[in-house]
Amino acid sequence: MNVIRFSDLCASGKAAGQRVFIRADLNVPQADDGSITEDTRVRASVPCIQMALAAGAAVMVTSHLGRPTEGEFKAEDSLAPVAKRLGELLGREVPLVANWVDGVTVAPGQVVLLENCRVNKGEKKNNEELARKMAQLCDIYVNDAFGTAHRAEGTTYGIAQFAPIACAGPLLAAEIDAISKALANPKRPLAAIVAGSKVSTKLTILKSLAQNVDQLIVGGGIANTFMLAAGLNIGKSLAEADLVGEAQAVIEAMKARGAEVPIPTDVVTAKAFAADAPATVKKATEVADDDMILDIGPETAAKLAEQLKAAGTIVWNGPVGVFEFDQFANGTKVIAQAIAESSAFSIAGGGDTLAAIAKYGIEKQVGYISTGGGAFLEILEGKTLPAFEILAKRAAA
Ligand code: 3PG
Repeated sequence: MNVIRFSDLCASGKAAGQRVFIRADLNVPQADDGSITEDTRVRASVPCIQMALAAGAAVMVTSHLGRPTEGEFKAEDSLAPVAKRLGELLGREVPLVANWVDGVTVAPGQVVLLENCRVNKGEKKNNEELARKMAQLCDIYVNDAFGTAHRAEGTTYGIAQFAPIACAGPLLAAEIDAISKALANPKRPLAAIVAGSKVSTKLTILKSLAQNVDQLIVGGGIANTFMLAAGLNIGKSLAEADLVGEAQAVIEAMKARGAEVPIPTDVVTAKAFAADAPATVKKATEVADDDMILDIGPETAAKLAEQLKAAGTIVWNGPVGVFEFDQFANGTKVIAQAIAESSAFSIAGGGDTLAAIAKYGIEKQVGYISTGGGAFLEILEGKTLPAFEILAKRAAA
């Protein structure tokens, strides 16, 4: 995708002395007292801000935090904890500016954080008047908020229409590059792991990937529905019987392309869903009526690991078993290790997937870890995200 890159503007001196408005995604999880419990997104926003400061720009940064009611600012909606953490990471104070839409005072070499942009009236519905006002604040608009790239809001879309220059920050550019490498121009075989509790929430993803990937590895409750589609008994496992037809269609679509959906040949079962439930490994053909399948079995895991090691590209979304309970974690662990050992380019995204990556300590061996939740899923659905679309349009104009 062709977009203007902020790094190019900085390298050619075009950002010096300019007013730069950075839309970051600083929507971090917080404890009840407001403290940040996981700061990946704040850390991920730092390179763009440092790039702008080093280029001699006057830097404004904003983000949404949560889903506040527009026009009704409350203390819990404040980006104050983010300003503090950002200040620690940048090694300088980051002043927090409220009521900023009509004007912001900031000099070249300085950075300010603009309060929660979703409190501004018109942000969510991408009101044109608001977008035009925000565009007037800057010479260069930088979108570095991949996590929010699937939203067409005032700070992710409208401002990009009207700012003198609209470009992609380094984080957004890295996401664009990794996604293109994995899905538009993949080294084959291309394997995708799509796991999670429900087929219904990921049906569009499964259908979209079925047109492109060589192996579509399903896991969790999704795999149970596919096992039903393959004619296997799954006992009282979580599944969506009404979507068996859809699962069959995905299997057929893959077959027609000479590709496959590997169906588990063995599974780990329990009689109850509990941290202390005893686990039993059994053949996929021997699941009893009162069994719950909570993980793929070791034989299946080993086979999938071989496929992943031989892959050219791997896309990973979702753990294949209940990895939070150790007795049902082996499948996810084996998959994680296979991805780590594979020479394939791998891209992973989604909350549970990131938790699994952290649990097995393979962060450094995954080619790219996406910062997007919903945005990453929409990419897998084959959608063009609004933030990408408008930046590409501006680059072409
Ligand atoms: C996220 O956390 O996925 C992004 O920040 C987007 O948040 P939203 O779903 O509230 O738009």
